[in-house]
Amino acid sequence: MISKATIDKVFEQSLVEEVVGEFVQLKKSGSNFKGLSPFSNEKTPSFVVSPVKQIWKDFSSGKGGNAIAFLMEHEHFTYPEAIKYLARKYNIEVEETQTSSLDKEKASERESLFIVSEFAKKFFKETLLNSQEGKSIGLSYFKERGFSDETIKKFDLGYLPEKSDYFSSNAIKNGYDPIFLEKSGLSIFKNEKPFDRFRGRIMFPIHSMSGRVLGFGGRILNNQLKTAKYLNSPESLIYNKSKILYGIFYAKQEIAKQDNCYIVEGYTDVIQLHQKGIKNVVSSSGTALSVDQITLIRRLTSNITMLFDGDKAGIDATLRGIDIILSAGLNVNICSFPNGEDPDSYSQDKSYEEIDEFLKANSKDFIQFKASILAESSKNDPVLKTKTINEIINSISIIPDRIKQELYIKHCSSIMDISEDVLFNSLAQKTKNEIYAVSKKRIARVPQTTKNKYVNTLFELEKKIIEILLLYGDKVEEFEELILKNDEDGNVVLEPTIVKSSVYEKIFLDLQQDEIEFTNESFRMIYDKIITEFQKNQKLILEVFLNNLGDNLSNHVTGILMSEERYELHNWVSKNIFVKNKEKVISQLVSETILSLRTYLINKKVDELKDEIKSNKNNNKILEEISEYHKLKSLLSKKLNRVF
Ligand code: CTP
Ligand code: MN
Repeated sequence: MISKATIDKVFEQSLVEEVVGEFVQLKKSGSNFKGLSPFSNEKTPSFVVSPVKQIWKDFSSGKGGNAIAFLMEHEHFTYPEAIKYLARKYNIEVEETQTSSLDKEKASERESLFIVSEFAKKFFKETLLNSQEGKSIGLSYFKERGFSDETIKKFDLGYLPEKSDYFSSNAIKNGYDPIFLEKSGLSIFKNEKPFDRFRGRIMFPIHSMSGRVLGFGGRILNNQLKTAKYLNSPESLIYNKSKILYGIFYAKQEIAKQDNCYIVEGYTDVIQLHQKGIKNVVSSSGTALSVDQITLIRRLTSNITMLFDGDKAGIDATLRGIDIILSAGLNVNICSFPNGEDPDSYSQDKSYEEIDEFLKANSKDFIQFKASILAESSKNDPVLKTKTINEIINSISIIPDRIKQELYIKHCSSIMDISEDVLFNSLAQKTKNEIYAVSKKRIARVPQTTKNKYVNTLFELEKKIIEILLLYGDKVEEFEELILKNDEDGNVVLEPTIVKSSVYEKIFLDLQQDEIEFTNESFRMIYDKIITEFQKNQKLILEVFLNNLGDNLSNHVTGILMSEERYELHNWVSKNIFVKNKEKVISQLVSETILSLRTYLINKKVDELKDEIKSNKNNNKILEEISEYHKLKSLLSKKLNRVF
């Protein structure tokens, strides 16, 4: 683990505008920087970086956060990868904590395997591009397959001659430890004599998400029957074939941008499509799709399109893949190629537009796909039709999201021409969940209740309170409180009194006094955390607070903090909220917001009571209650008027 001290140093020293600035062209705009969103293809800039708050917000995609979040989002780094990246950038030494000697040994073995793999990649590439044999055999083969020089270099393709130890002896001569040559699988030792595993093959290095070489695939040149066409690195500490996807390093940004990932079967499919301009493509490299591979993709998109050749083996692998993708909660489309063609061979003589059009025209969702392969020849065969429907329901039953399930049931109902009721019942049997049998009722519209009417206003007010707490929570301000008093004539009057308090205490006590709870669950959690933090430390350091919030909430908080950049007064007025923006003094802002919240809650309560009267004969008590609330309301509006 990276030590807390290192992480703190990284947070202290990194500047979000510098980190983002390496990837996005930023222009000064007031106290902020602006640029084109790197997450969409926009023409007018909606990407904002705030040096003061040390956060960024992308209004076109809704994403936002601190420097670390940017690296995780843009470079798809994990948290530790992002910390290490920043440490390198700012010359901070990374301290690791609590590593047992076994962990250390493993870490150094991993590191050694990375180093020897990197050497091998360069060696194979060098041999391909610069040796006589490499050029005449390897390079000419790649060229024949239609790969350009640029593509060959970009994918670090390589070549290894048919000699028994050409690579191994070279590596040993260069000081690489035979132990790691063997553990990486690059060399095989027989009686202490090394042999090259990949001799006589063209080489495809396999990169991790962040671009390190994990292993290799090697293809023989002539289709000898004796040996396998492709040979892969054996499993090692760094190469785990069910956890890698060939091409992910080159595809990650485009997958996120297109919000879709193409999965193909082979190395050459990835490279060919990439060369043609379709870059959001990875390959499972001959193995059945695994849950871990889906997890890699999930960091980038929730949409997958499987491309495969239409033979029997391809169909079977695709059917298994579909269920794995669905059960991981992702969406899957399938595009099959004409029999005998794979994406590589199909694309050879086509332009980007032609391929793109083919993919769009032939992508089916899994229901259409299953319906087409299982029922093609069985339109009028009830037994086969039942089988097909069961197959589809099977897949629907493993989707974790209920709403999605319902949508697919509807879809299946229309494609297979069978009633939704029957399908829901069959799904209910599969999931042993009675809800679905009565599902029709659940789909019924939610009636517009008094409750809904207030949801938006409450949302905005609760959000505003969080924003105030985050930005000004520790400020000590003078608040005007109206205290009820009797004047000389014995009348009850409101007398203004100045009370000094910190903003967070004022908000906390006021809300507590009225027993106001946040209705939005995320806001409630954030509110609790903010108050706890203030009560503990009397202050709140935004970066640290954001960092400890967890992904979901911290995204929320960034959204809140940046939203003031885009809200304008008329927005609030049109929503009937009496809050004016920033320039107002803080104490006024606080008072207005709390009073508005109270007023709204009272209005809501009164409306609810009125609803109750309609359905209640004995309503004297309710009327009394309403009148109490009205009194309270007029008191509040007096207070509010004073504030304005
Ligand atoms: N594969 C493998 N071992 C084999 C055959 C295939 O690991 N003996 C993997 C490779 O990753 C290969 C993928 O399965 O890229 C798809 O196999 P196939 O369709 O046979 O190969 P292509 O990629 O079409 O290879 P080529 O076009 O070079 O013949
Ligand atoms: Mn092929």
